[in-house]
Amino acid sequence: MIDIHSHILFGVDDGSASLEQTMSMLRIAVDEGIESIIATPHYIIGANKYTKADLLSRYEEVCNIIEKENIPIKLMLGNELFADAMLPDMLVNGECCTLGNSKYVLVEFSPRTAKYSINNLIYNISLKGYTPIIAHPERTFAPDDVDTILKELVKKGCYLQMNSGSVTGIYGEKVNKIAIELLDRHMVHFVATDSHTHRRRSPRVKKAYEFVENRCGARYAEQIFNDNGLKVINDSLIEYVEPKDKINNGLIHKLKYIFNMN
Ligand SMILES: [Fe+2]
Repeated sequence: MIDIHSHILFGVDDGSASLEQTMSMLRIAVDEGIESIIATPHYIIGANKYTKADLLSRYEEVCNIIEKENIPIKLMLGNELFADAMLPDMLVNGECCTLGNSKYVLVEFSPRTAKYSINNLIYNISLKGYTPIIAHPERTFAPDDVDTILKELVKKGCYLQMNSGSVTGIYGEKVNKIAIELLDRHMVHFVATDSHTHRRRSPRVKKAYEFVENRCGARYAEQIFNDNGLKVINDSLIEYVEPKDKINNGLIHKLKYIFNMN
């Protein structure tokens, strides 16, 4: 499996705090069947505690340890870019990282970002030739935004990345409900861990994978946990999937249960 969102690099943001923690996270990732990780430290204009040179040097350091310890994980570098009108220029100037040097970029919005600012930023990022992937929309958008904002963005060529913990419920019921709606409507393009530690927010995917496989089928699970991530790494095109209309899940799942179709 491919994890395109991870705070596994130690000492650069609010993720791993030490080399020991990074090593524990790597061991969990291996046990969970993760083969490639894109490290995505927060990039918040005006609030970063590191320079690009610091980041590259920390990345090299962890890559060397992975090689020395024979850990079967390929580590790549990226950033989780906090929404800011300056981002498109920062990307062009190489001040922040795309995902694994591809044209894909991971963008995080605040729940308070206005719809017109979201649309402007996505448009301007695309105009510079990058493909935006919105980080964990189930955590930053309201239920009504699924139709009024997220569906429109997907139709415009944006991709959505969901956290594995949102599927398993670690962020609470409200987030879990949006996560399941997005899955049912095939509006999720990646499930990633957004792991910060080896404890609660650790790089676990197996439980979420099983849930998605049972609910949405093996093909979709494989696409969003593995295939689309590979396409990011290879910088190739991810095929467009039309979002499904809102459905009455309660009724459908009740019927499936009655007719033993699960
Ligand atoms: Fe994150």
